[in-house]
Amino acid sequence: MYADLAPWFGLLSPPEEYEDEADHLLALIHRLAPGARTLLELGAGAGSLASHLAPHLACTLTDRSPDMLAVSRARIPAARHEVADMRTLRLPGRFDVVLVHDAIGYLTTEADLAAALATVAHHLAPGGLALLIPDETAETHRAGTDHGGADAPDGRGARYLEWSHPLRPGATTADVDYVIVTREADGTTRTVHDRHVVGVFPEATWRRLIGAAGLRVVPAPIPDPLAGEHVLLVARRR
Ligand SMILES: C[S@@+](CC[C@H](N)C(=O)[O-])C[C@H]1O[C@@H](n2cnc3c(N)ncnc32)[C@H](O)[C@@H]1O
Repeated sequence: MYADLAPWFGLLSPPEEYEDEADHLLALIHRLAPGARTLLELGAGAGSLASHLAPHLACTLTDRSPDMLAVSRARIPAARHEVADMRTLRLPGRFDVVLVHDAIGYLTTEADLAAALATVAHHLAPGGLALLIPDETAETHRAGTDHGGADAPDGRGARYLEWSHPLRPGATTADVDYVIVTREADGTTRTVHDRHVVGVFPEATWRRLIGAAGLRVVPAPIPDPLAGEHVLLVARRR
């Protein structure tokens, strides 16, 4: 999905779908880090979320997929883009806000999650804010199906079926099957089955690893309008 299907990501998961989430993050940043000017995102993908943040903050967007970053670069030319794995990235600067959104779900071991949280801590400026937003924890995980996608004005379209499977007892990973159909303007279709394995950790594991990375979770001062659709952990350096 994040390589040869990357050019279709804007139709599979359009930026408009991220607007409410971005508004909430900007409100949180405004309250908790009012002078913030710079933001680093780990696993920024196609920049769908970041496209709403970039008008307000100088964004550095990183992802391990060059194909996804190419989409982001075209969408947000003013942002700095770096191909990098969130477990090992080390940039010279520090940032007022470090954001990790749904991409963190692709870390499937505690060691990998700890490495990504060390990257977050490393890049936070003093007084900076970490926004950690996994799709789910072990407590919120639900098996089930979802679907989505959109059409482009030029006649292309893309749709997906997402099938999340139950978490096996004691496991910290879950399988998610995607069936993706792309349709060119001339009506040619292509169907792809893509299996993803995602990490699903108990909230206590998140909190323990956040602490071990030298961060502390702080209460969010504004109720999360998307509670139930994602998990939002706000942290600062200790
Ligand atoms: C669902 S997409 C992110 C979409 C993004 N939230 C947006 O707004 O466009 C997940 C992304 O995670 C990236 N990813 C997965 N594992 C990664 C890792 N270890 N380091 C950096 N990026 C990673 C993938 O390349 C993919 O672009």
